[in-house]
Amino acid sequence: MAHHVTQARRQLNFSIEYVLDEEEIGAIADVVETQVMPPRSYLLMHPEARLTDADRALVKRWWMGELPGAASE
Ligand code: HEM
Repeated sequence: MAHHVTQARRQLNFSIEYVLDEEEIGAIADVVETQVMPPRSYLLMHPEARLTDADRALVKRWWMGELPGAASE
């Protein structure tokens, strides 16, 4: 699991300096909508990481560019 977390951090790094390109935003949209992420195996140990429908709706507003500091800015 520690290896998974390292890999995940490499895949998804929300550091302030980092600007996501369209492909990365698309990948996030994809895994959030299909509920592939967070991984099931991770949720067994960290149930609080489960995204609710409201969480997914909020993330969707982010990638649609509807929030301040939007993904596509
Ligand atoms: C809502 C939270 C999360 C989001 C939005 C997210 C997003 C992503 C994205 C966009 C990718 C790349 C997928 C691709 O190749 O297109 C990825 C890969 C990955 N994520 Fe996550 N992730 C989340 C949570 C987590 C957590 C909590 C773990 C904990 C282990 C994790 C483990 C991984 C791993 C191991 C990969 C690389 C392996 C693979 O592509 O299947 N992710 N994630």
